Amino acid sequence: MVDQKNVLVIGSGGREHALCWKLADSPFVKQIYCAPGSVGVSTTNKVESVDLDIKNYQALAEWCKEKSIDLVVVGPEDPLANGIVDGLATFGVKCFGPPKAGAQIEANKDWAKAFMIRHQIPTARYKSFTDAAAAKEHINNATYPALVVKASGLAAGKGVVVATSKEEACQAVDEILTDAKYGVAGETVVVEELLEGEEVSVLAFTDGETVSMMPPAQDHKRLGNGDTGPNTGGMGAYCPCPLITPDQLLDVKDQVLQRAVDGLKAEGIKYVGVLYAGLMITKAGPTTLEFNCRFGDPETQVLMTLMETDLYTVMKACVDGKLKHLQVAWNTKLSAVGVVIASKGYPETSTKGCVISGLAQVQSNPGVVVFHSGVSRGANGSLVTAGGRVLLVCARAGALRAAAAAATAAAAAIDFPGKQYRKDIAHKAFSNKDPIDQ
Ligand code: AMP
Ligand code: GLY
Repeated sequence: MVDQKNVLVIGSGGREHALCWKLADSPFVKQIYCAPGSVGVSTTNKVESVDLDIKNYQALAEWCKEKSIDLVVVGPEDPLANGIVDGLATFGVKCFGPPKAGAQIEANKDWAKAFMIRHQIPTARYKSFTDAAAAKEHINNATYPALVVKASGLAAGKGVVVATSKEEACQAVDEILTDAKYGVAGETVVVEELLEGEEVSVLAFTDGETVSMMPPAQDHKRLGNGDTGPNTGGMGAYCPCPLITPDQLLDVKDQVLQRAVDGLKAEGIKYVGVLYAGLMITKAGPTTLEFNCRFGDPETQVLMTLMETDLYTVMKACVDGKLKHLQVAWNTKLSAVGVVIASKGYPETSTKGCVISGLAQVQSNPGVVVFHSGVSRGANGSLVTAGGRVLLVCARAGALRAAAAAATAAAAAIDFPGKQYRKDIAHKAFSNKDPIDQ
């Protein structure tokens, strides 16, 4: 008889749904609680959504002990940046995720850039400012295109302006520093060199010493087909992404991910969890745009459908400092494509209460998995929209193009008034630019 454990997952989005879905597959996992979870998460075998105050570490730790929680998995960056891992550790509860000092790698871009320079991690040239006039002088006089302006702190993915002119970059400085558009998150701005190339996300599991890289994925940030329209939280992702070569991936492992983990350790930070490198594949090679201290959304939804090794075992190995003894296996015969379905008005607003139809039919296809992000239960028990990004439909197939076609067809078959989705997820991987549903 296998010794089964209980797990608590913190978060409520599609990423957390995918983590719960994969953890539920583990023979070592008995029960998964997800706080706050969602209607979709609760439809997964073994998963129960729970309402907990995740800022009260003592009460949370007591609840974990009562429920015999063996591992807490933290999905989003905010609780990590607030110190949930340190807080729960003082009460003897183990978390998969970095401590507050490690979460700085995402939560404090000024610190992260200086860290990258200290440890020779390839990244764009930059300068940080708290004074708007000095920032604007740099934008106007830098010897490189200093056109990317970032609020240093966490701004819910919104604090970055990739300007097309010096004027626009200066305007962004005024909005962030002078007008305090992002509050304290924008007390410091990072002004960075504009890089050109393809963006690729490479995530890795780590126990603070060993790095186990996941296959490369690509997110699609813009709302519209052909990468047009406003930036969003991500309209789809696919994996593996062929826009980074195997040699470049080895460089990323050594020069970005391992260097970062070694650098953190050298600075006294035991970084456990996922380290996410957002990369620009420039002519000079992969360059780090950002680190995230957690799994990506929507990359995780596609990654989890390709992961072969038991997720709980990998997370435990990270927490116990035993990752070097584990080979994490991925399905190399399949590709996965995830298409996000968003509600009317997204990303500016969202539409709640629209009845979602077609889900059962799509879910009856064994090659398709649906992950929920903004879904709730309507008055008559039907599923209704409850946020900007509503669902992600993920399809797997031997060929990336077939997976893209299947995911796009599945997204077309799910319906609610005003739904928005892209028909070209993974298009950069194809030389033929025709929409995928042709
Ligand atoms: P970040 O949160 O730092 O990854 O920035 C958000 C997005 O802005 C990235 O996914 C890129 O699309 C873009 N971006 C960030 N930094 C740069 C840069 N130095 N050059 C070009 N685009 C960038
Ligand atoms: N996919 C981008 C992110 O998770 O930050």
